Amino acid sequence: MTLKGRDLISIRDLSREEIEEVLRSAKRMIPYAEGTKLGDQLGGKLVTLAFFEPSTRTRLSFETAIQRLGGRCVTIADPSASSMRKGETLHDTIRMLSSYGDAIVLRHPNEGSGRLAAQASDKPVINAGDGAGQHPTQTLLDLATMQEAFGTLSGLKVVLLGDLKYGRTVHSLAYALAVFGAELVLSAPPGLGLPEEVRSQLDQMGAKISEEDQIHRVVRDADILYVTRIQKERFVDLAEYEKVAGSYRIDSALLKSAKQRLIVMHPLPRTGEIAPEVDATAHAAYFRQAFLGVPVRMALLSLILTGKAG
Ligand code: CP
Repeated sequence: MTLKGRDLISIRDLSREEIEEVLRSAKRMIPYAEGTKLGDQLGGKLVTLAFFEPSTRTRLSFETAIQRLGGRCVTIADPSASSMRKGETLHDTIRMLSSYGDAIVLRHPNEGSGRLAAQASDKPVINAGDGAGQHPTQTLLDLATMQEAFGTLSGLKVVLLGDLKYGRTVHSLAYALAVFGAELVLSAPPGLGLPEEVRSQLDQMGAKISEEDQIHRVVRDADILYVTRIQKERFVDLAEYEKVAGSYRIDSALLKSAKQRLIVMHPLPRTGEIAPEVDATAHAAYFRQAFLGVPVRMALLSLILTGKAG
């Protein structure tokens, strides 16, 4: 099945074969992302980037991907400057935007907003993060990072550490890793475990899952330590946030017991979960991970907008 004209709202919208196709194409896009090859795969297609929540990596890697492949974009980067501030609904905003460009990339604070937007739009909608819901393009670049480091996505032992309740990146990633047969170890501060709905869907998928709250124990056997920040902005009661803030931190001392090949990943931004001293170690994969957002989004846009793998 082709990705041309399709929405991407949840990582579960893609089959294993389709994910593998995006990853193969992303690998070929790396020279375009680095700027050593010039591309025109998007041939002037216009993409609307509608960001109603802050973003550095997702928005700018989409913009970079579009511009380096000969596409164009228009952007809402400041929600307070859009007419939603005057009370316009997301439905009306998206319906109107879909008549302007060839695809919409949406980030919005409400879970489910991506699905709502896809219903309102007659152009493809890509979910760039919907509240505490999903972040499927982040998952694609996470998988690209893992595949680049290990040459495979099968048989990996992946620790998901941090805010698993509100962290949309881990919700999407856990589904994808289950599809590829990874072993998942969940490690979250009290009260920040995976939502029941996500956990039960993973169980239905037959995912191999265990839980461990002692970080030094999980680090020893892991291939990948996927760290997330505590999503302060999602807490209704800041006193609850204060109870768990700063409750875990990865540093060089902790990594002494890790396998030599362990990689530390993080969707970024980090807010103290990974000590800067880790950056200089061979374990640090998070800046490469952020770079791979460009070729991955190039591949995805090319497949969705033109049907070609690029
Ligand atoms: N990883 C990620 O989504 O980063 P931004 O919030 O900066 O886009």
